[in-house]
Amino acid sequence: MSPLFIANWKMELSIAESCSTAEEIERGVGQTAFRGDVVLCPSFPMLASVAPMLSQVLLGAQDCGWQERGAFTGVVSALTLKELGCRFVIVGHSERRRFCSESDALIAQKVRSALAAGLIPILCVGESWDERQAGHRDRVLFEQVEHALEGLLFEERAQRVCIAYEPVWVIGRGTAVEPSDIHHAREVILACLKEHYALDTIARAFSILYGGSVNADNIGSIISESGMEGVLVGGASLKAHNVLSMLRALTNE
Ligand code: PGA
Repeated sequence: MSPLFIANWKMELSIAESCSTAEEIERGVGQTAFRGDVVLCPSFPMLASVAPMLSQVLLGAQDCGWQERGAFTGVVSALTLKELGCRFVIVGHSERRRFCSESDALIAQKVRSALAAGLIPILCVGESWDERQAGHRDRVLFEQVEHALEGLLFEERAQRVCIAYEPVWVIGRGTAVEPSDIHHAREVILACLKEHYALDTIARAFSILYGGSVNADNIGSIISESGMEGVLVGGASLKAHNVLSMLRALTNE
């Protein structure tokens, strides 16, 4: 299966930079042998400008509201994101858990809200350095996945969720964790899913990804050795030529 490549641009690019980077990636993707999905996640104000530039590349958002509509100042609903052309939305990124105090309960509502709007949530989970040092990594992962999906039934066959394992302490660090470590995290996430879903539902509805200091040097081994189905890339996705190098690395070009 072709891997999924998701670019998380965070709050790093201006409107003009987002548009020119998106345009360059859109133009360049067809010249690579990469056949998986490439998803760009600019910040909210850029979505409407970037959307018309994309045809092969898909659009995603970095967050969404937990309700469909209502008196929620400053919040952008999943329905609006869908209307803007988004197919994916990042939910529960560690920066939102940390800086915006997002709880597991809120994140669970956002996952539902995204699915109800017809979006694919990219649920981010991952341990902090302290949790890892204390030997709690597996428990943290298991619980974050369990809380975010609690009671979720995949009644509509088209519904899908991506789960991105992002060790918090590795984000923006420059060095990813070892593929064997990522593989272990994948096993923990799968074990949690197996407690709640049948194997065919897991195969159909879930993709498990890795994020945290992915770059052109490590992306190939991460995908080939960890078993992950894709990557969520921050810093290294801000320049079009870096994105294209990573896509080429995935196809050994
Ligand atoms: P990074 O960020 O690639 O810059 O480590 C990944 C993320 O936060 O999603």
